[in-house]
Amino acid sequence: DTKRIFVTRKLPEETLHLLRKTYTVEMWEEEETPCPRELLLEKASQASGLITMLSDKIDQELIKQSPHLQVVANLAVGHDNIDVEYAKGKNITVCNTPDVLTETTADLGFSLLMATARRIVEADTYVREDKWQNWGPFLMAGSDIHDKTLGIIGMGRIGSAVARRAKGFNMEILYHNRSQNEDLEQELGATFISDLKTLAERSDFVMCVVPLTPDTEGLLNSEFFSHMKSDGIFVNISRGTVVDEPALVEALESGQIKAAGLDVFASEPIRADHPLVKLDNVVLLPHIGSGSIETRERMAKLTAKNVACVLAGEEAITPL
Ligand code: GLV
Ligand code: GLV
Repeated sequence: DTKRIFVTRKLPEETLHLLRKTYTVEMWEEEETPCPRELLLEKASQASGLITMLSDKIDQELIKQSPHLQVVANLAVGHDNIDVEYAKGKNITVCNTPDVLTETTADLGFSLLMATARRIVEADTYVREDKWQNWGPFLMAGSDIHDKTLGIIGMGRIGSAVARRAKGFNMEILYHNRSQNEDLEQELGATFISDLKTLAERSDFVMCVVPLTPDTEGLLNSEFFSHMKSDGIFVNISRGTVVDEPALVEALESGQIKAAGLDVFASEPIRADHPLVKLDNVVLLPHIGSGSIETRERMAKLTAKNVACVLAGEEAITPL
């Protein structure tokens, strides 16, 4: 077969083995730097399949120049980097990697919540910088997690997996979602809250897990933060632009909320001069929600299988 596949970032060779048997597979080999846009456009213009990262823009410009393209398999559950409707209109199958990353991402969300509430990173730095001269009863004292109220925004697969963890901590679970899910309410004792203001007012912790869409862009704004408790903690593991980031910075700087744990940012990667980096009450991660070795391998395999299926004329495993 003369079909070409382009992989925009270095993936484990085992995961591409299957594709290499049949197709010409090219890969951007650099670990540290992303594939430049010009090269992506050039490779896409000859490719039947693309394996893409959340940092690659698969937009109309690219799709228009890629007449052979049949499948785009994104190594992420989120797909806001792809113009899915436009691609579908051109008979291109777009695939993501749901399910395989659900539990891993929920683990990270809960880790981030705990790290932020108990000031784990700040405390670690304190020890390393040799500031620990005396033990004191309120040294690095944080907030309890157990028995508190967690507000989850976006009760999809990952949100539900976060809620299951919260249940083990005897938390009260509130959730906001497009639709109410009565089965989950039964299973987890979670309470549906239709308006965000009430969710903000009642939650000790708010975790944002909602996908980025035109409806959710800027959803969590200064008004939302103004309704949160002053000792409230905000955690975001979805996409940075679901949050009005300057409003979040303002809420953190002014003490309107206590702290934030952030895995995602409006523009990634953020740099050291970003206002969030200057704040002690923030834990910052480089978008590693699904980043366990096991899960990243599962995700890579799933992208390869999706490409293989579509190019063989079969149904994709996880099409959008
Ligand atoms: C990561 O952010 C993903 O969408 O999988
Ligand atoms: C993603 O898998 C979600 O639905 O939360």
